[in-house]
Parts: sequence; structure tokens; C-alpha cells
Amino acid sequence: MKTRGLAVMASIWLVACGDSPTPGTAPVSAAVLTQGAALYAAQCASCHGAKLEGQPDWRERKADGRLPAPPHDATGHTWHHPMEMLVQMTRDGMVPPLAPEGYQSDMPAFGHILSDDEIRAVLAYIESQWPDEVKQMRAERFKPQTSGR
Ligand code: HEC
Repeated sequence: MKTRGLAVMASIWLVACGDSPTPGTAPVSAAVLTQGAALYAAQCASCHGAKLEGQPDWRERKADGRLPAPPHDATGHTWHHPMEMLVQMTRDGMVPPLAPEGYQSDMPAFGHILSDDEIRAVLAYIESQWPDEVKQMRAERFKPQTSGR
């Protein structure tokens, strides 16, 4: 159910932008990945881990009711989301429509710290660390819907 909604969202974005054919598998240059790795180390690693491993017990809410930072590697759920949603989460934080109104989260909004290109570079770096089967699953899950469906 949820997955289907995400797939639909992904394809809406594709139609709107007409950009890369499969979000999550767009080829990026080595320079962008290097930039993304540096930005990740500077801005994200403190919470999400130097090796994208996340915080310990990341599925358990903390005493303050907030969730720890999940891993960005294949053991987490970052890869379950279409690229455009990841961009939004990173830029705007956990706010509607990505989270319920008033949702309390420790995930900062980076929109005033990083440009959209920088956010995309960080996410491209994260994506580059995923194993091939994850990339394939994403390509399948988020592929544009063809007409006649
Ligand atoms: C201060 C700690 C902190 C920093 C720094 C941080 N994050 Fe997060 N991030 C979190 C937390 C905590 C969550 C879980 C939020 C929730 O669900 O309430 C999260 C969630 C996310 C998610 C959603 C993952 C999912 O599967 O739902 C993405 C994407 C993300 N972060 C990207 C980034 C990126 C990219 C950076 C660096 C530019 C970054 N974060 C820096 C704490 C942080």
C-alpha cells in the first residue's frame, strides 16, 4: 500500500521533471560522489555514522520519544524511499507531508546549510554505497509507470 503510494509519487515527479529515467539509479560523476562523501562526513556522519551505520538501537525510540538516526546503508530504510523524497527530507526535515503535523524529530533541515545540488550530491554518495541488488530493487520499484496501466 505504502510502497504503491511512493511509486506513484516517484512517477509524478518524473513526469513533472522529465529528468533522469530511474530515480535512484541516475549516473553521477566521480566528482559529485567525492563532493557528496565530503559533505556526508561533515554534515551527516555525526548522527548517521561514518560508515552509514546509524545510531545504536535505531529502531527504539529514545527517552524523549524521538527516533535515533537510522543507518543509510542497506540495513536501514533510506533506500525504500524515492530519491525525490530523500531530497525533501534532507532539505526540509521531517515535516508534512513527509511526517505528521507537529512530529518531533532530531533530523535537522539542511535547506539553509546545503544547496539542492549539494543535497543531491550527498544522497548520490549514499546511494553509491548501496549494493547492486538494492539499486536493482529501487530501479524496479520506482520505475516510471508506462501508459496503459
Ligand atoms: C543531529 C543528527 C542528524 C544529522 C546531523 C543528520 N540526520 Fe538525518 N536523521 C536523523 C534522525 C534522528 C532521523 C530519523 C528521523 C525520524 O524518523 O524522526 C534522520 C532521518 C534521515 C532520513 C530519513 C531516512 C528514512 O529512511 O526515513 C534521511 C534521508 C536523512 N536523515 C538524511 C540525512 C542527511 C543526508 C544528512 C546530512 C546532510 C543528515 N540526515 C544529517 C538525525 C540526523
